[in-house]
Amino acid sequence: MEHWVRFVVLMVCLFFPPMVECKVRRYTFNVMTKSTTKLCSTKSIVTVNGQFPGPTLYAREDDTVLVNVVNQVKYNVSIHWHGVRQLRTGWADGPAYITQCPIQPGQNYLYNFTISGQRGTLLWHAHILWLRATLHGAIVILPKRGVPYPFPKPHKEVVVTLGEWWKSDTEAVINQALKSGLAPNVSDAHTINGHPGPLSNCPSQGGFTLPVLSGKTYMLRIINAALNEELFFKIAGHKLTVVEVDATYVKPFNTDTIVIAPGQTTNALIATNQNTGKYLVTASPFMDSPIAVDNMTAKATIHYSGTLASTATTLTKPPPQNATQVANNFINSLRSLNSKKYPAKVPQTIDHNLMFTVGLGVNPCPTCKAGNGSRVVASMNNVTFVMPTTALLQAHYFNISGVFTTDFPSKPAHVFDYTGKQPRNLQTKTGTKVFKLAYNSTVQLVLQDTGIISPENHPIHLHGFNFFAIGKGLGNYNPNKDPKNFNLIDPVERNTIGVPSGGWVAIRFRADNPGVWFMHCHLEVHTTWGLKMAFLVANGKGPNESILPPPHDLPKC
Ligand code: C2O
Repeated sequence: MEHWVRFVVLMVCLFFPPMVECKVRRYTFNVMTKSTTKLCSTKSIVTVNGQFPGPTLYAREDDTVLVNVVNQVKYNVSIHWHGVRQLRTGWADGPAYITQCPIQPGQNYLYNFTISGQRGTLLWHAHILWLRATLHGAIVILPKRGVPYPFPKPHKEVVVTLGEWWKSDTEAVINQALKSGLAPNVSDAHTINGHPGPLSNCPSQGGFTLPVLSGKTYMLRIINAALNEELFFKIAGHKLTVVEVDATYVKPFNTDTIVIAPGQTTNALIATNQNTGKYLVTASPFMDSPIAVDNMTAKATIHYSGTLASTATTLTKPPPQNATQVANNFINSLRSLNSKKYPAKVPQTIDHNLMFTVGLGVNPCPTCKAGNGSRVVASMNNVTFVMPTTALLQAHYFNISGVFTTDFPSKPAHVFDYTGKQPRNLQTKTGTKVFKLAYNSTVQLVLQDTGIISPENHPIHLHGFNFFAIGKGLGNYNPNKDPKNFNLIDPVERNTIGVPSGGWVAIRFRADNPGVWFMHCHLEVHTTWGLKMAFLVANGKGPNESILPPPHDLPKC
């Protein structure tokens, strides 16, 4: 919709609600500090409205959402609505210096976007520095009024947000790491809805408790809002039926364990088929390469009504940290629902055939004493992305030159044994490079992990689009053989996908959203190190195929 049409609809809706169904949701997000005690120690954290996790944003498919973000902290702030497609409204997408300049202390910005063609669970989070450690919350998009779920309506729905907690200030953690050139400290605990649950070094703290009735079905809207860790999620004595990921319906399947990467969401049904009792819920790390993680298990409880407080909790053992097979069983079970009502529109032909390596590197850093004069970096196609000081979307829209170049490589500069043990070239190039796509062109992108320093699972997130995960494998992608096994019928559709450690994934999407769209590893440490790039999607020729003009209160750099 053009701006003036949206304005008229908004006015009618506000002043004459009986005339049109009010489809505007208004929120105020006051970004403020809050003193919080966890792990038996207290620190000040950055929150929205003093809440951790932050408030849940509820909307219905087709609603317009207006969020006034008021910055009352000392940091620059921006908020990203992770997974919301933002059709033509890149100005509201949120990544700092990509689609907007950050909101400076004392300033505010009204995020204004419409949710179309999506329903399910997503998350919002800060998209600057490491603030999303505590600045995050759920987005719940209900189907249009009168449209049922493609599964029996659950008795109740519960948001389950998984996170990571550091005892020290997270900005201090990453700043200290950048100075040294080495990896930052891992977190001190994982959390379920803000609570680590009892731990050996702080046994007194209670965990999150979900009271349930026997004989019902509950839907858990599970979100991984952690900074740097993929997680396993498990409930003692109960199976989970997965029905949706990243706000797209999947063919339902049963599982004991869910694996979920930062930025991903999973809706799962749980049948409360016990009569009484308390059952342990766990969130524990998944890491199948030799990289340090926080090995604490977050604990919560499901508590049947009528169960005595003194009743012992039925325990479950989380999978071992390196349980690749458990993770694969889950990932390989994911298929798009692909029903008549919710078809999987997988591009069957491709205009751009791309291959990007993702991985780490080492660059010189004369001031990095602890790193012996070098620092760990990360890159895509060997380019370590340098953040600009003018937002890319402004530079594109207003034709400001010198902010970015359009020469992001379509494939690795050199073919090498990507996942091999002895890669020769550790050093990366630096630059603010984007890849240009014509409006509505179709893209196939192979994301290939490298073994430089160490192979590792990278959850890659694309802004502005959903994509289909059409194939994956271990080792080096083979363009002659591997496409024969691609699933072009019902591959899972999502916005964040794990590139397997020492392997590759292939995705497809249609570039039907003009703007500048960030793509990066959703492990925040890797984003910081430069594992990021952007697609620039040109305007189309049709009436609704161009970026809308920027709002008047768009922050200035
Ligand atoms: Cu959820 Cu660019 O991030």
